[in-house]
Amino acid sequence: MLIGGGGREDAIARKIVEAGSTLISVMKHKNPSIYRLSAETHIMDELDYSSIVALAKKSNIDLVFVGPDPVLNTPLVNFLENTGIKVASPSQSAAQLETSKYFMRELLKNNNIPGNLNYQLIDSDDALLKFFEDNDGEFAVKPLGLTGGKGVKVMGEHLSGKNEAITYAREILKRESSVLIEEKLYGEEFSLQAFTDGKYVLPMPLAQDYKRAFEGDVGPNTGGMGSISDFDHLLPFIKGSSRDSALEILKSIISAMRKSNNTFRGVIYGQFMETPDGPRVIEINARFADPESMNVLTIFDGDFTDVLFSIADGNLRNQAKFFKKSTVVKYIVPKGYGVSPQPGSLDIEWDPNLENPLLYYSSVSGTMDKVEMTSSRALAITAIGDSIPEASEIVEKNLHRIRGEYYVRHDIGTKDLIQRKIENIRKLSSAHKS
Ligand code: AMP
Ligand code: GLY
Repeated sequence: MLIGGGGREDAIARKIVEAGSTLISVMKHKNPSIYRLSAETHIMDELDYSSIVALAKKSNIDLVFVGPDPVLNTPLVNFLENTGIKVASPSQSAAQLETSKYFMRELLKNNNIPGNLNYQLIDSDDALLKFFEDNDGEFAVKPLGLTGGKGVKVMGEHLSGKNEAITYAREILKRESSVLIEEKLYGEEFSLQAFTDGKYVLPMPLAQDYKRAFEGDVGPNTGGMGSISDFDHLLPFIKGSSRDSALEILKSIISAMRKSNNTFRGVIYGQFMETPDGPRVIEINARFADPESMNVLTIFDGDFTDVLFSIADGNLRNQAKFFKKSTVVKYIVPKGYGVSPQPGSLDIEWDPNLENPLLYYSSVSGTMDKVEMTSSRALAITAIGDSIPEASEIVEKNLHRIRGEYYVRHDIGTKDLIQRKIENIRKLSSAHKS
């Protein structure tokens, strides 16, 4: 049973079906692609955990996998496990790694795990004003909990200075009892996803997500407009030694969780900033990334259901392999996405047997050939190539198959954009040396 109905879950669903398993899906809107793959589809509130547990029992489900983070913030996994149903996703308590940014920072600090940064939890207006009186420089202002990638604002990017930072932090304080202020990091971001059974950590290829709404990496943060991964499972601007350090951080987190009797099983996804001091932790997530899951799952070479059972059973072996290919994902979104989305419909002319690129369906309803968009991301074209720019070109060449009013970031995966990232890393490290 798969919970969730976005592009990430479409990619997961395809792997489950490819492995020969029977898929029962639970989602809030009828995603036509997941629907087509499922033996049974249940359209229901994904947060209604007691109904999902009842359904899983009634349907004799062997294993449950959760896609979206809000579901991990309910007691669903605990209830399923208590009922004796296997789950390859973390409990509500283990998912705090993602659902409480303060929990994650404190775990790193208390266990001396490298990659942490300076942070302060602020719980009053006085403390907020004092913080900005005492501290100069730039900071990231964050609500503690889940915000769909849209709640974090960074000085110099979304906040022009101290005053705007204070105003935004106050806005959060009005809604919630506290706000997290973090040191701002400078560098290039990358994502490292890994499978874990609570002990063993099996890494997937690195990927980079393009969060900004508009070309050239400007505009508001979104859930992610697209993403890239490279044939060598690194990125053109991230060295093997940095990937290794990032993996060590994830392993230390998993080990710290186990030692505190809060074993984490499932997919862990670290968002890192590559800095001249090596990778540092921006965020830890308790699930597959969206869109980066589509990069890695498209080149996953193995039996995906086997991996899920090994996670749940605590015997994850070294069985996940990935083809040595580059991938590019570009999300097709309604015009105005991120600011004032204008959802319309899209006509799709896609041969379901086409292997490259693949089309994953996200927040849409309708049929495989004609979908209605919502205000969120609609379709993800995912191409495989020998290089990132080649995969990007393959996406571009297939855009004509989607007709209607939409927006897509053409720059993702282009040589120019990659070159800019390489330059950025070079500049930061030479500034650091001098
Ligand atoms: P998050 O929702 O925590 O993933 O943050 C969204 C985005 O905000 C990240 O992908 C970064 O681009 C940026 N961000 C978050 N924390 C920091 C930080 N401490 N320094 C610089 N940028 C940050
Ligand atoms: N890639 C952004 C996220 O999944 O949170």
